[in-house]
Amino acid sequence: MTQSESRVEAGAVGAVAVEAPARSQNGTGTILSIQNISKTFYPKTRNSAPVTALQDVSVEVARGEFISLVGPSGCGKSTLLNMVGGLIKIQDGKIFHNGTQITGPREDIGMMFQSPVLFPWRTVLSNVLLPIEMAHKPIKKYEPQAREILGRVGLGEFVKHYPGELSGGMQQRASLSRLLLQDVEVMLLDEPFGALDEFTREAMNIDLLRLWAGSGKTILFVTHNIHEAVFLSDRICVMTPRPGQLAEVIQDDLPRPREIGLMKTPEFQDLVFRVRTLLGVA
Ligand SMILES: Nc1ncnc2c1ncn2[C@@H]1O[C@H](COP(=O)(O)OP(=O)(O)O)[C@@H](O)[C@H]1O
Ligand SMILES: [Mg+2]
Repeated sequence: MTQSESRVEAGAVGAVAVEAPARSQNGTGTILSIQNISKTFYPKTRNSAPVTALQDVSVEVARGEFISLVGPSGCGKSTLLNMVGGLIKIQDGKIFHNGTQITGPREDIGMMFQSPVLFPWRTVLSNVLLPIEMAHKPIKKYEPQAREILGRVGLGEFVKHYPGELSGGMQQRASLSRLLLQDVEVMLLDEPFGALDEFTREAMNIDLLRLWAGSGKTILFVTHNIHEAVFLSDRICVMTPRPGQLAEVIQDDLPRPREIGLMKTPEFQDLVFRVRTLLGVA
């Protein structure tokens, strides 16, 4: 297992192993408050200069919102997401979830990454049930729900298959199913479809919106794909190259439900161009 995979596993498992945070009383308003976050890495390699990944990033995320972070590679997107997920220690600035400061993984915040992180010796179904097993919850009770979710993502006939027998897109569907079964209120998705071909990515985007619609869940989505950000989001946080700062937060009021045809419209193209301009690639 690579270093990033082991970190991913630690997060995925740790996220269900801690006590549930207090829920906010009202169903609206701010769910995540990211306040003045900065982060400098000090590489262990001799003579390597410190890397300032993030500089004074603040944003309030509304309950139920689909918000994305878009920016060039290395601008600190994953660093920020991992801080919200409690995987990276927050030293400079603060992040609150339902008014409680984040100091580590929380049961109501779940993550998904570019690599699906499935155990090859476990079936799809038992991979999806793994967090339930880790939390010592009754697997049998959750199995019907796991099957139902796998059906919803189009894997109904593959529950007994092994990850190695699935395509990349199908593996990501299994990974998404595992997150959906955890039923967290905040989903942190770090370039979840970044390794997929364009057609599969578009299909996954449509499916993700379908699963999110009406769920009340909040999604914080990282991508460097501008079209993907504009297609999915309610708001788009455009980040500058490293050190990552917020260039602008753009409101994306394109009508929902969103279909692929939306990409042809001038409104879609205008938003894409605005993001491109902010990123300096127009
Ligand atoms: N653990 C680490 N140690 C040292 N540098 C790191 C570490 N994690 C990230 N960085 C550096 O911080 C910067 C931002 O990284 P990252 O958040 O992964 O960017 P993004 O996800 O936007 O591509 C990069 O320059 C990266 O090399
Ligand atoms: Mg990243």
